[in-house]
Amino acid sequence: MKEGNNDCKGLSRRKMLIGTGALAAGAALTQFGGFIKPAMATGGKTEKWPWPYEKLDPAKTAEICYNEWYRVFCGAAVINSVVSQLREKVGEPYTSFPADAFVFLEGGQLGWGTICGSPAGANIVANLIIGPRISGAHEGHLIAADIMQWYSETALPTFTPKHPKISATLPTTTSQSPLCHISVGKWMKEANKALKSPERKDRCARVAASTAYRLVELLNDWKDGKYESTSDFSCAKENGITGQFNCMECHGNDVPEAPSPTKS
Ligand code: HEC
Repeated sequence: MKEGNNDCKGLSRRKMLIGTGALAAGAALTQFGGFIKPAMATGGKTEKWPWPYEKLDPAKTAEICYNEWYRVFCGAAVINSVVSQLREKVGEPYTSFPADAFVFLEGGQLGWGTICGSPAGANIVANLIIGPRISGAHEGHLIAADIMQWYSETALPTFTPKHPKISATLPTTTSQSPLCHISVGKWMKEANKALKSPERKDRCARVAASTAYRLVELLNDWKDGKYESTSDFSCAKENGITGQFNCMECHGNDVPEAPSPTKS
């Protein structure tokens, strides 16, 4: 790790078109450099992808998500904003999919401040519809990586609902991280609002809605056959450890080197 380098990304820019590139074939290169076979055993017999997908309106999805946040919070709101519409347009398998089970994603999973429920929910949806990388479909995986990077690098929230529950203008903040603790913490500091304040709640409802909007844009592109991955960061490949790109925020100037970073 170069000292003073707070931005380790961009070293291995990966732009992939559907069906092209080294990862398109049956075996997928994992984040950790090993090879895994397409699903064949237990799951592979009954699990079939992609699930039928009809293009959705991003703004309408975001409105649904915003309102759902006040019922089931970030993760389940993002999931339900897509699943509820596909239940009407498509029916099964969406009808049987228990979207409300994902309420536990709230607060970075039960208030533990780990991954924000909004990208977690979006990534569940992308992999649910398109399929996991072990199924041979890589776009769900790539969309999930795009969502992680977009969430980390975007001043959020980007979406303003038609009928917001809070009339004041809310500040936007860029978290440089998909972690709930960091994302919410930076916003609370900027807004000087407590966790239990109506403003913080509405901010998170709008972040969920913003994420649902972005997810549907990506899913629609995939449906149209014009999806192209934009994420360019893989910490495991570049630094030999799973992680985020904002090393110095946690480690200061003394970013440790992983043992044998070139070995898998
Ligand atoms: C969200 C906070 C956070 C971020 C961001 C972060 N780390 Fe860490 N990292 C930690 C903590 C906490 C530990 C465990 C305590 C420790 O050993 O410092 C750790 C451990 C490590 C270790 C294990 C070896 C060791 O000395 O502990 C390495 C290597 C490492 N980090 C490298 C990185 C690199 C490279 C980046 C950026 C690409 C990064 N970290 C980003 C918090 C973070």
